[in-house]
Amino acid sequence: MLTADTIAQLQSRALASLAGVSDAASLEAFRIEFIGASGSFKTIMANLKDVPKEHKPAIGAALNQSKAAVEAAFEEKKQSLGAAASPVKDLIDVTEPGRIETQAVGRSHVLSRVRADLCEVFARMGFAVAESHELEDDDHNFVKLNIPPEHPARDPQDNFYVDRPGDVSKPRMLRSQTSTVQVRVMEAAVAKGGGKLREPIRVVAPGRVYRPDAVDATHSFMFHQIEGLYVDRGVTLVDLKTTLLQFAKAYFGADAEIRLRPSFFPFTEPSAELDMLIQLRPDQPPRWIELGGCGMVDPAVFAACGIDSEEWTGFAFGFGIERLAMGKYAIPDIRLLFENDLRFLAKI
Ligand code: DAH
Repeated sequence: MLTADTIAQLQSRALASLAGVSDAASLEAFRIEFIGASGSFKTIMANLKDVPKEHKPAIGAALNQSKAAVEAAFEEKKQSLGAAASPVKDLIDVTEPGRIETQAVGRSHVLSRVRADLCEVFARMGFAVAESHELEDDDHNFVKLNIPPEHPARDPQDNFYVDRPGDVSKPRMLRSQTSTVQVRVMEAAVAKGGGKLREPIRVVAPGRVYRPDAVDATHSFMFHQIEGLYVDRGVTLVDLKTTLLQFAKAYFGADAEIRLRPSFFPFTEPSAELDMLIQLRPDQPPRWIELGGCGMVDPAVFAACGIDSEEWTGFAFGFGIERLAMGKYAIPDIRLLFENDLRFLAKI
């Protein structure tokens, strides 16, 4: 039977027990035993229902008072024990690792990485990076590259002209090749030398090019090329082939092989197409992959840029960056490089 006495006894037992508490663990044990959700005060509260009706208000009030007194003593004790008494769960563990798996970590697009890697490989061979306009004129895209007016590549149907050819003296177009940068770089070097080339040129020029091609697995109306130009005294085809072989081995691995197939470009003589033997997967035999064109700079191009071809010789090359990326990472379809589908990009 719950009486004022039982309540007083519980209160003094609790206060005596609290007096013996000296650390966080015993304080928590005290809390559980007396004032927790299944502590003694909660238990005797259940007996209130058996107390005769006329005593209920007094006993109930005594019980509340008693419990409040014990709780106040508990709070006081907790304060006096200080930080040492706070339950561990209230502390922030600054050493706990973050939940990285739930955060999307961004990175460069595969084409940006390939472009940067290519520039890095060529930089190790002494090539600086040059960049130039995407909006070009006929002169730089064709005329100074020795591409005559009747050449099929100059058909307005095959280029993105901004001006109608014939309407203005310098019709502008989105460049169809990065070979334009060769001309820009040679003109700038001659201007710097006061009308004469005075020092060698060694540059690569990565960038976007545009052609009105129908889009399929290997074609796009916009893609990227990396152009190379080396002009010096006594440059030969051997220098070209050695540079390309070194590049192939540096970028694709020591086993890479190259092959030059005779070809024709108006701005080089002789000209060649470059293929590389690349093993894409360990379970497949190596394959020849066509990467682009190259050759010795045609004297007509030197002349158009004000360079004396008796004194200077040079080589040039132009590769498709998407081709290189597809070769390096076994990407089957060029469209994957432009669709921005994270399911693909996250794996590359
Ligand atoms: N500009 C050529 C193209 O877009 C590629 C090329 C071929 C670049 C031979 C060169 C070169 O510099 O020497 O098809």
